[in-house]
Amino acid sequence: MRSSIALLSIAAVAVNCQSSSSSAAPSTSAVGEGANPSGVPYPDTVYPGFASTNPQVIAGAKANQTSPPYYPAPWGDGSGGWDAAYTKARALVGQMTLLEKVNVTTGVSWEGERCVGNTGSVPRLGFRSLCNQDSPLGIRFADLVSAFPAGINVAATWSRGMALQRGAAMGAEHRDKGVDVQLGPVAGPLGRSPEGGRNWEGFSPDPYLTGKLMAETVRGIQSSGVIACSKHYIGNEQEHFRQPQQAPFGNVQAYSSNIDDATMHETYMWPFAEAVRAGTGSIMCSYNQVNNSYACQNSYMLNYLLKGELGFQGFIMSDWQAQLAGVSSALAGLDQSMPGDTSFDTGLSYWGTNLTIAVLNGTVPQWRLDDMVTRIVAAWYYVGRDKYQVPINFDSWSTDTYGYQHTVAEEGYGLVNERVDVRGNHAQIIREIGAASVVLLKNTNNALPLKGNEKLTAVIGQDAGPNPDGPNGCSNRGCDNGTLAMGWGSGTAEFPYLVTPDTAIQNQVLSQGGSYESIFDNYATQQITTLAGRASVAMVFVNADSGEGFIEIDGNQGDRNNLTLWYGGDSLVSTVAASCNNTIVVVHSVGAVILEAIKNNPNVTAIVWAGLPGQESGNSLADVLYGRVNPGGKLPFTIAANRSDYGSDLLYTLPNEIPQIQYTEGNFIDYRAIDSTNKTPTYEFGYGLSYTTFSYSNIAVTKHQVGPYTPTTGQTSAAPTFGTIDNNTADYVFPSGFHQVKLYIYPYLNSSDLKTASQDPHYGTSGATPPGSQDGSPQSKVAAGGAPGGNPQLWDVLYTVTATITNTGSIAGEEVPQLYVSLGGPHDPVKVLRGFERLSIQPGQSVTFTADIMRRDISNWDSASQNWVISNYNKTAYVGSSSKKLPLSVQLA
Ligand SMILES: *[C@@H]1O[C@H](CO)[C@@H](O)[C@H](O)[C@H]1NC(C)=O
Ligand SMILES: *[C@@H]1O[C@H](CO)[C@@H](O)[C@H](O)[C@H]1NC(C)=O
Ligand SMILES: *[C@@H]1O[C@H](CO)[C@@H](O)[C@H](O)[C@H]1NC(C)=O
Ligand SMILES: *[C@@H]1O[C@H](CO)[C@@H](O)[C@H](O)[C@H]1NC(C)=O
Ligand SMILES: *[C@@H]1O[C@H](CO)[C@@H](O)[C@H](O)[C@H]1NC(C)=O
Ligand SMILES: *[C@@H]1O[C@H](CO)[C@@H](O)[C@H](O)[C@H]1NC(C)=O
Ligand SMILES: *[C@@H]1O[C@H](CO)[C@@H](O)[C@H](O)[C@H]1NC(C)=O
Ligand SMILES: *[C@@H]1O[C@H](CO)[C@@H](O)[C@H](O)[C@H]1NC(C)=O
Ligand SMILES: *[C@@H]1O[C@H](CO)[C@@H](O)[C@H](O)[C@H]1NC(C)=O
Repeated sequence: MRSSIALLSIAAVAVNCQSSSSSAAPSTSAVGEGANPSGVPYPDTVYPGFASTNPQVIAGAKANQTSPPYYPAPWGDGSGGWDAAYTKARALVGQMTLLEKVNVTTGVSWEGERCVGNTGSVPRLGFRSLCNQDSPLGIRFADLVSAFPAGINVAATWSRGMALQRGAAMGAEHRDKGVDVQLGPVAGPLGRSPEGGRNWEGFSPDPYLTGKLMAETVRGIQSSGVIACSKHYIGNEQEHFRQPQQAPFGNVQAYSSNIDDATMHETYMWPFAEAVRAGTGSIMCSYNQVNNSYACQNSYMLNYLLKGELGFQGFIMSDWQAQLAGVSSALAGLDQSMPGDTSFDTGLSYWGTNLTIAVLNGTVPQWRLDDMVTRIVAAWYYVGRDKYQVPINFDSWSTDTYGYQHTVAEEGYGLVNERVDVRGNHAQIIREIGAASVVLLKNTNNALPLKGNEKLTAVIGQDAGPNPDGPNGCSNRGCDNGTLAMGWGSGTAEFPYLVTPDTAIQNQVLSQGGSYESIFDNYATQQITTLAGRASVAMVFVNADSGEGFIEIDGNQGDRNNLTLWYGGDSLVSTVAASCNNTIVVVHSVGAVILEAIKNNPNVTAIVWAGLPGQESGNSLADVLYGRVNPGGKLPFTIAANRSDYGSDLLYTLPNEIPQIQYTEGNFIDYRAIDSTNKTPTYEFGYGLSYTTFSYSNIAVTKHQVGPYTPTTGQTSAAPTFGTIDNNTADYVFPSGFHQVKLYIYPYLNSSDLKTASQDPHYGTSGATPPGSQDGSPQSKVAAGGAPGGNPQLWDVLYTVTATITNTGSIAGEEVPQLYVSLGGPHDPVKVLRGFERLSIQPGQSVTFTADIMRRDISNWDSASQNWVISNYNKTAYVGSSSKKLPLSVQLA
């Protein structure tokens, strides 16, 4: 029993993060803006120049990159539908003592309880420890759960309804396991570069598409009574160097994503605005620095942009070990420390005891603590946790039925895994999303759908079969063996089963009396050549994997080193195609892969992108291959002809200084980059074929009469406090006889002397707190703010565009008409996506596509006025079937 726990602990040593051994153990009590772990505050940094020579790109990064201080941290006011939740939260928080409040803000330590993160509890008021659990595609570290399609597949469906249904199903599973917060969905990484290891956890490098699917996923999860955690905020676009590094890598800080103000708003913050507007209960700040200030203590990003401008009413939690200072992070807007210890299992915390002390010594005002707790408890009420909470009934750290409640301390032996089967009928929606996300890239002479009566069907490639070690054979899916249905890292779930393409296709062929042979060894060239030469149809399965940086596979440290296929995929395809003129290629990948040669091979009659479909992989695919489902998926990213066509790439080599990642491309990522340089992609953003055909006609636009845009003005109320805090330090020491669990984080003091209790050699030496950070008086409201999601008038509908889509073929199909807008300015992308809908159309039928264009959809961020403006340039809306096939257009006048 013991040894199995120990083994699991090692295998499972990371959540959203690297293993503890590879991250710094910083110690600081610094309170300054952007204070780094060694206690030296960074100056506000200005990056005046941009490296790119493309004038359009340079101009795209319109403003200087700075992270100026912004204090005080805005206090939640219950606006935007949060009223009732705030009323209940304030009533509960008002009854809490200082120690109880601190408990709600701070995790109890890594592996201190059974979820990947647990807060302290308030037993006196019946407020349980909150259970925060991975992941964005299901429940990590539990059995009898579903493995849903990854976010990138949801994006390939372009279906709001499916995003909502998947969210609701995932939320229900978390709820029934006792989870309070599901750590998803993801909009950071957004996908600045296709090599980014965790892009697949999110949706698409297009902020509009990601934003809409974020919003639906948040609504879905929360409709099931679980708090969504939209993450990682922000600039978390690569795995390399995302955390402070220690020897032997050099003692350097995490990279800084240097993003100008306009790009921040128009690209990277955009989907977070949607998540906030949809009511996301929490947001996770990321490991990296943004403009040289750590994301979890960056007052500009948290106080100004997220809580000020976006009017976020829920709570900000840190990524696991992304909190690097106590007072700084509290004043900069962080609300919850995860998993609570300074780094894994130190037994020390920047908050816990230290937060109790910081309130008692006056560096963190009571109103700030009260605001943290109110936000957390309000999110809890907002989604109905008071009605839906069930006891936690699983254990992240052991697969055994009996084990320790407190794994790292090896205490509290008892029933830890109750094995509650929470899957319901979710297999059905998983299979449907899997099929709906298949993108048909090439289909010569109706090679697909297959009839099923082919004499000999050959299936070739390791990606078609099982992992010999089982679907969960590698912890955190940390290998690329067998068919790829999920990337690796903390963004995973355990498979309840995995239907391989081999199984599903074989079942299909045998049911129709055909014959079937498969070869999983990519390098069995002679056998492959022989089989392909005999086959009526040869299906080749190839893949490319990526994941989180704490696991390295074949030299890929989370991020991909290249955009080519793994395990000799390209030569596998040419070997098969050399012997078979009906070769069908199926790609399972985490994002774009280079397919130019495969596309141009005349013997490759069809190419199918199936992404990361989850547990029903083979069934979903067979539904499309054999025509039960007519494919309607569209690429949520560009498949470029060359890696360099994407423009922005990753930083792979550690410099002798803090890695600076300059977002000099501005808004010009993915198709916006390709368009601006006139490159021809292999398959463009939004592209995807069907077994039927569609025609586009009759574009029309209606202009709505709405008032002018008015900046939000006025003052907030003063910061409220709830209850009074007694200043007698002796009242906060551990109660006599209190049993302390080893390495557990508590709110109590071990001495009534604050300096002694802090165990901090630098206690009291960091000087004044940032100007304004203590000020709880009424503050000016942010002009672009005013409600969750920003100024409500940004969401006014200014135009409605309609077009007619006709199914001109002979079978029913689904089409995703897309609306793009040219904002018209010399520094704007050629066009940006601003509308889409997945429509089901019968043969011969015409349906109307309707897209509402909101004020924000045609605005640019103006750094000078710190607001959105509609420029005077002519604006054109385009409608069509992909970003390059836009037959219809209309002026937005
Ligand atoms: C960036 O800041 C520098 C120094 O403040 C200033 O000289 C320069 O004009 C600014 N550039 C832009 C594009 O705003
Ligand atoms: C704080 O939380 C811990 C862990 O749940 C609990 O043991 C302790 O009693 C709580 N303290 C207070 C003051 O509620
Ligand atoms: C308080 O925080 C400081 C770093 O700011 C750390 O060195 C110290 O160990 C912490 N104390 C406790 C009791 O966790
Ligand atoms: C407790 O001490 C803090 C910091 O010195 C001070 O701001 C606060 O007013 C005191 N509260 C009470 C109730 O005396
Ligand atoms: C599993 O994959 C790893 C690399 O990801 C490889 O080294 C190993 O040989 C594979 N094992 C099997 C059984 O295929
Ligand atoms: C790209 O990376 C994969 C995985 O590491 C590897 O199998 C493949 O050989 C690489 N491609 C090239 C061209 O080096
Ligand atoms: C296509 O397949 C035929 C066999 O059907 C073969 O003779 C020919 O060389 C193949 N062409 C290519 C480009 O592989
Ligand atoms: C494909 O190859 C088969 C025999 O290998 C041949 O009968 C058929 O004509 C070929 N088709 C094309 C389009 O070349
Ligand atoms: C107040 O307490 C915090 C937390 O222990 C500590 O970091 C800070 O240095 C203290 N400040 C003063 C002025 O004592």
